[in-house]
Amino acid sequence: MSQVTKIATPFQLMPDLPSWEYDALRESIKQHGVIVPVVKDEHGTIIDGHHRDRACHELKIKDVPTITLAGLTDEQKRDQALILNLVRRKISRKQMRAIIASELRRSPDVSNQWLAEIVGSTDKTIQSVRKELITASEIPILDAYRAKDGKRYPATRLYTERAKQVDRARLALASLGDDAPRKPVSLKLLEREAKKKERASQIRGRYLQPAEHAQVRLYHSSFQKLESVAQIEAASVDLVLTDVPYNREFTKQFDDLAEFAARILKGGGIFCVYVGVIQVADAIKSFTRHLDYQATAFSSWQGVGPVIQPLQCVIQTTPILIFSKGSWVRSTRWYNCFQNNSTEQDLHEWQKPLVDVEHWLLSFSEPGDLICDPCAGSGTTAMACHRNERRFVGGDCDRDAIRLAQRRLSNEMTMKIEKVRKG
Ligand SMILES: C[S@@+](CC[C@H](N)C(=O)[O-])C[C@H]1O[C@@H](n2cnc3c(N)ncnc32)[C@H](O)[C@@H]1O
Repeated sequence: MSQVTKIATPFQLMPDLPSWEYDALRESIKQHGVIVPVVKDEHGTIIDGHHRDRACHELKIKDVPTITLAGLTDEQKRDQALILNLVRRKISRKQMRAIIASELRRSPDVSNQWLAEIVGSTDKTIQSVRKELITASEIPILDAYRAKDGKRYPATRLYTERAKQVDRARLALASLGDDAPRKPVSLKLLEREAKKKERASQIRGRYLQPAEHAQVRLYHSSFQKLESVAQIEAASVDLVLTDVPYNREFTKQFDDLAEFAARILKGGGIFCVYVGVIQVADAIKSFTRHLDYQATAFSSWQGVGPVIQPLQCVIQTTPILIFSKGSWVRSTRWYNCFQNNSTEQDLHEWQKPLVDVEHWLLSFSEPGDLICDPCAGSGTTAMACHRNERRFVGGDCDRDAIRLAQRRLSNEMTMKIEKVRKG
């Protein structure tokens, strides 16, 4: 038999399990694993599941299914602990009255109805315990009682199965603070939000209006306004190389985008666009209304990409559609699949690897050509142009993305100057 020792934690509000019950729980965990997840707050403090956690510790089980609840006040954590415990445990009448008394001593202003709901008892029992405590002068008679309304707000709720995932969740929650989404979330979503916040805090400096004759010009503008904002002349661009958002919302803009490309491209100019797997049919339908379809190409990688639901399709390629304005005039050979395993996403959520963009840029343009990326994001196409002696004009409707892209480019230029200086 195990010795049941007291675990000192702020939210263990229930008496310890009798030792025979604890041993049975430990044995069950040994045989079947943890069936009911341990509930912790964002700092790793256990709200519910002290005995399960202890048994796992003794059994040296590291990966414990865990639900992390973040953003709750201590009051709310105690309420949760009581609710979760009382739902599962068989409580004698005497134990229930003791729990009610302890809760009333702790917060005498809680209403009978709300406390009854928390501990799973009746208003009448609460009132009876309250009366006893008032008679014994342990709690005051109050005029108003705090009800459930306005007291509770949802927690960030996260389910994980591995110990390392709990640590990752804690890190993401710590960097998100009050910005953590108050709803059930996946670890992936939480980490993405944390990364977004981190990136936003890194973006410093102002958006700079590009100089009229600069080789690389990046504007804060939607592509719908880019021609007038950036003074792009009709039929002046050799290649439109872009990467659109892979969502159904953007699909509605496909016609506008192809019309824009058809206006600014020279005759024989190329429109080369990364699209989402789910967008291919709509993209071809819209783009062929304005340009001539030529080929489909792919950027591919090994390993697991995002999964398309409900198809259960694990993505390992991004389709790239290639159109021309009028006939195909290029005579250079090119390869329609570029494989790379680089994961450069430190600047933008949808950032493309530079080598990937360079592959398509070099396939469809020559030094000195004018390239346009109307959905420039963190400026990968602009960077590729700068490195490969192409002129560039582009924009993005997200000001932060453009500030980031401008800073990225200016760092690149500084590095280039330093290299030249050092010889
Ligand atoms: C897939 S991301 C581009 C990422 C880029 N290839 C990179 O490496 O950073 C698509 C971009 O399109 C931008 N966007 C969406 N709608 C737009 C519009 N109407 N005009 C201009 N940009 C738009 C989004 O803000 C986003 O930054």
